[in-house]
Amino acid sequence: MISTSICSRVSAVTQVNSDTCVSGKVEKRMPMPPEDVIDASDPETADILKGNIAVYQDFITEEEEHSLFDEVEPHLKRLRYEKDHWDDAIHGYREMERNRWSAKNKIIIERVRKLIFPPDATHIAYVHVLDLMPSGYIKAHVDSVRFCGSTIAGMCLLSSSIMRFVNEKDKFKYVDVLLKQRSLYVMRDRARYEYTHEILAAEQSYFRGNVVSRDRRISIICRNKA
Ligand code: OGA
Ligand code: MN
Repeated sequence: MISTSICSRVSAVTQVNSDTCVSGKVEKRMPMPPEDVIDASDPETADILKGNIAVYQDFITEEEEHSLFDEVEPHLKRLRYEKDHWDDAIHGYREMERNRWSAKNKIIIERVRKLIFPPDATHIAYVHVLDLMPSGYIKAHVDSVRFCGSTIAGMCLLSSSIMRFVNEKDKFKYVDVLLKQRSLYVMRDRARYEYTHEILAAEQSYFRGNVVSRDRRISIICRNKA
């Protein structure tokens, strides 16, 4: 049964079915049409990545964004941003891991897991929280295949950004993915193993010629085990 009150963001319906509420109605969560968020070097690369990347626009509400932020910010604030280590993959960042969440935020994490991962997935219990300063960026890398499984799902807080995927064997084959603030992105299988991913620095943050302005960005990333 669906009533207006159940249609708050923390509803049982939302938890169990990964559904979302839109003006009082419950609709199945659907990823954005890839054409709207993917800008590829060539049609073949577009096709490969379309099958292995998904972006859910407004996956979290502003209220949920605040709630997640309020939980991680006191911990992040105690850390200093790491800057310009010549061999680091990430510049201008601080990070933490968290496995116990407030009841409210746990519901959001579970929503990601239920929607994105198969029911028998073994989750990495510690959710990764990565805080990039406005000038921070992530260089091209592939997540460790020793620790992390086939699927990576991240919620984007505070800022939009561009995530670029580049074919490991041919640097001219790439896609840029527009990750709006409050979106959830998923990369799996070929996108995760055969392509590097990176978050572009503010100076390079363009999507189809339009500036995607960068601010401080926090990502909350769920992974399954290798
Ligand atoms: C990583 C990574 C992406 C993000 O930490 O390995 O790629 O959205 N993060 O912060
Ligand atoms: Mn990564």
